[in-house]
Amino acid sequence: MAESLPLIIRKATQNDLYEILQIEKVSFSLPWDMDTFISTLNNPRGKNIVALMGQALTFDILNHNMDLCQRTKREYQMSRPDPAEVLVGYCFAFEMRSMIHLLNLAVMPEFRRKGIGRALVGEIISLAALSNRQSIFLEVRMSNESAKCLYRSMGFRHVCTWKRYYIDTGEDADVMVKTI
Ligand SMILES: CC(C)(COP(=O)(O)OP(=O)(O)OC[C@H]1O[C@@H](n2cnc3c(N)ncnc32)[C@H](O)[C@@H]1OP(=O)(O)O)[C@@H](O)C(=O)NCCC(=O)NCCS
Repeated sequence: MAESLPLIIRKATQNDLYEILQIEKVSFSLPWDMDTFISTLNNPRGKNIVALMGQALTFDILNHNMDLCQRTKREYQMSRPDPAEVLVGYCFAFEMRSMIHLLNLAVMPEFRRKGIGRALVGEIISLAALSNRQSIFLEVRMSNESAKCLYRSMGFRHVCTWKRYYIDTGEDADVMVKTI
C-alpha cells in the first residue's frame, strides 16, 4: 500500500509550520510549541523533513472529517507554496557529533499505517548516512507500542531506559539506537 501512495518528502520550511502544529497537537500529550519548531528549523544542524500528498487523494480520504478538510482548505489559501499538496507527516532530527538525534516524528492520524512514518524515518537514515553519521538515537514513551514497533522494524534496538523522563505522566522513556 505504501508504495502506491504519491508521497513527496522534502526539507521542512517555516511555511509548513501551521500544518505541522495541527498534527503535533493531535499526536502528543506534550506537543512542541511554535517556538520550539522554529528554533529547531533554524538550527544549522537540523535535519527536518515533511511528507506531502496530492490534494485530490487527501481530500478523498479526509472526506469524512469536514472540520479538518475545511481547515486544510483555508490553510492552502493562507500559506501553502503549492496548494496541490497536503502535509501529512514530518520528522525533525538534529546532528550531534557522529550521531543523529531523532527528536520528533508524527503522521496525520487519518494517514497512519500507510508507510509514511517508515518513509520519513528512512529518509532521515539516508541523510545520516550521506553526512557520514554513525548512528541514530531517539527516546520513545515506554507505552508507545506503535512507534516502538516501527523503530524495531527499521533496525533500532533498545539500549537503556530513562526513568520518569516525561513530565506529564512520569512515564519512562526507552532509548533506541540504530547503527548506520
Ligand atoms: C508512530 C507513527 C509516526 C507511525 O507512523 P505510520 O505512518 O502510521 O507508520 P507506518 O505506516 O510507516 O508503519 C510502519 C510500521 O510500524 C509499525 N506500526 C505502525 N503503527 C502501528 C500500530 N498502530 N500498531 C502496531 N504497529 C504499528 C508496523 O510494524 C508498521 O508496519 P506495517 O504497517 O507493515 O505492519 C504514527 O503512529 C504517529 O504519528 N503516532 C503519534 C506520534 C508518535 O507517537 N510519534 C513517535 C514519537 S517517538
